[in-house]
Amino acid sequence: MKLNQIGIIVGSLRKSAYSKKVAKQLANLLPVTFNPVFIPIDQLPLYNTDADEPNTVPQWETFRQQLDAVSGLIIVTPEYNRSMSGALKNAFDVGSKRHNHWKKRPALVISTSPGAAGGFGANQHVRQVLVTLNVTPVQRPEVYLGHVNQLFDANDQITQTETLSYLQTAIDTFVTLHQQLTQATNIDESIHLQFEPGRFFARNDHQEIIAEITCEPHQQNELLVDRTYVAESLRGQGVASQLMQRVIRYAQLYNLKIIPECTYAKAYFKRHPDDQGLLAAPLT
Ligand SMILES: Cc1cc2nc3c(=O)[nH]c(=O)nc-3n(C[C@H](O)[C@H](O)[C@H](O)COP(=O)(O)O)c2cc1C
Repeated sequence: MKLNQIGIIVGSLRKSAYSKKVAKQLANLLPVTFNPVFIPIDQLPLYNTDADEPNTVPQWETFRQQLDAVSGLIIVTPEYNRSMSGALKNAFDVGSKRHNHWKKRPALVISTSPGAAGGFGANQHVRQVLVTLNVTPVQRPEVYLGHVNQLFDANDQITQTETLSYLQTAIDTFVTLHQQLTQATNIDESIHLQFEPGRFFARNDHQEIIAEITCEPHQQNELLVDRTYVAESLRGQGVASQLMQRVIRYAQLYNLKIIPECTYAKAYFKRHPDDQGLLAAPLT
């Protein structure tokens, strides 16, 4: 198991699933010290004990290895007939044999639905299964995302700041639970960042902005990084680098190319040649 690798499992197989869009946003809200890994479930044949001999069903073995490699889970489930999808239940079954590959991990469970109840039934059924799998879910906040079809703009971004802030609270609680269960000590970022479409930022207790990076959509599939700001009192603590790393992960999640326009962003990419593949054009 690698600490801070977070497996993200989406219960819908649909290409444009709302659950997938929510999962991507949750990955974006994780601290940069966490690495989100999407674990697909759509390739898993239906579980059948008769077929479960070592290496007979390679998709099951791969899935189990992927579970073994993560130290926490984010599970986003749609609601099918007041429960989880058959695909998600099948994934739980596959991962539970021949020994339990889910066990002892912390999990964040989020249900979604275009309906008002936000997939409450699915969420509770997932939690019920997690008990026997010995997975510890975040108890509160409970997240039942209703009217999920109205949440996203054309860039698959959640524009309501209240919703983003609620999801951030859920992620923060998950991070704390992960720290408690894994006794990981290396998860701290220099500063706790928030996200809104177009920027990552932090405020102090007086609600003043003390760190900010702006990353506006530019041409199709491009992101313009035109401002990096860190308050005097925070300089020398790696905050600017943390801001830039959040933008980089955001670009990776949403398949965007970066245009570094501000001085800091240009200097960052000069210092990190491995990240230059994300640039819209070579550095001049
Ligand atoms: C087989 C099936 C059963 C469904 N049952 C429910 C349900 O019980 N409650 C609900 O809120 N929506 C239900 N829906 C509607 C789904 O919430 C909706 O299709 C949603 O977009 C699926 O999630 P996704 O966008 O992540 O794929 C059902 C959809 C399907 C295909």
